[in-house]
Amino acid sequence: MPIETSMTAYISQHPGLKYVFFGGKGGVGKTVMAGVAALWFARQGRRTILASTNPVHSLSGLLDQDVFGKATPVTGVDHLWAYEIDTRDAIERSKAEIKEKIQWFLRFAEISAKADEFVESATMNPAFEESAMFENMIDLMFKDEYDVYVFDTAPTANARRLLGMSKVYSLWVNKMVKSREEAQSLREMLSFTKKKEEDPLMEYLLSFRGRMEHARQLLTDPDKTAFFFVTLPEALPIAVIRRFIAWFRDFGIPVGGVVVNMLIDQSQVSERSPDFVRNRLAMQQHYMQEIWDTFDGMVRALVPLYETEVRGTALLERTGEAVFAAGSA
Ligand SMILES: Nc1ncnc2c1ncn2[C@@H]1O[C@H](COP(=O)(O)OP(=O)(O)OP(=O)(O)O)[C@@H](O)[C@H]1O
Ligand SMILES: [Mg+2]
Repeated sequence: MPIETSMTAYISQHPGLKYVFFGGKGGVGKTVMAGVAALWFARQGRRTILASTNPVHSLSGLLDQDVFGKATPVTGVDHLWAYEIDTRDAIERSKAEIKEKIQWFLRFAEISAKADEFVESATMNPAFEESAMFENMIDLMFKDEYDVYVFDTAPTANARRLLGMSKVYSLWVNKMVKSREEAQSLREMLSFTKKKEEDPLMEYLLSFRGRMEHARQLLTDPDKTAFFFVTLPEALPIAVIRRFIAWFRDFGIPVGGVVVNMLIDQSQVSERSPDFVRNRLAMQQHYMQEIWDTFDGMVRALVPLYETEVRGTALLERTGEAVFAAGSA
């Protein structure tokens, strides 16, 4: 089966593409594909940042260069920066911010309790870390210092929760704002002075809602955003991205397509090849059929399994030749 719309074709049909994501099951090659895409955009002369919000970082390993904690120019490549976002730092900052809000609220409601207890319980759950990662990501986007942002996202369902969260946030904040407004007008009615009271909690909620709405707009704009899913020709990675794609469509997040990685080169396999290799090739061929059936018209690239791991810009460049293969439409 031929590829209908290749990666190259998809990107040339989306000249305003700015936020590019790679998702998929653990270990399928998301970090590698994000690196390949970022390098490719930079080679086109676009200021590109390759960023990781993943608490388990691997960009420094991918590039053989320390890119932790700040946007770092990638050695030997013009227009390319890489950045492993420090999640621990972000979490601490979020905690401090929340503590301040809670302290204000406790004073406001005249409750004599220590904010710390509330902060601990509010931040002791895994969703908090994801939400801090999401905030980091949109901060970087909002600063708008680059032409293209390529995100290497966390391996599991996190990626979709990360984006889905903006919608949930909005709903939640709308509710909060409404009840704050009601409380405020009640206080105003009861007070003798007509002076409008300051309400830092309300201000926070409003600015938060504004940020979330802005993020949602960017992330659901099919001209600006594309989520690519990486899979192997194997049952589990296919099942994972099939689910992801359905979820993303529900959230209105644009799906750019599917990259199939680690394909065994058929021309290297013969009758005399070891059983192990022939069996794996047969398995891959079986699942390739499933991929063509399931992701009809969405396959963007087929990437071979190389004899070594993909590390360093030279090998990323070579992998890029497969991902951005000319020829197919
Ligand atoms: N086409 C390929 N040929 C050979 N090795 C590959 C290929 N693609 C990726 N690899 C190697 O496979 C390993 C996993 O790739 P990568 O780290 O990109 O996966 P990932 O999806 O980001 O994993 P994680 O879920 O842990 O973040 C790496 O060692 C990488 O160099
Ligand atoms: Mg990775």
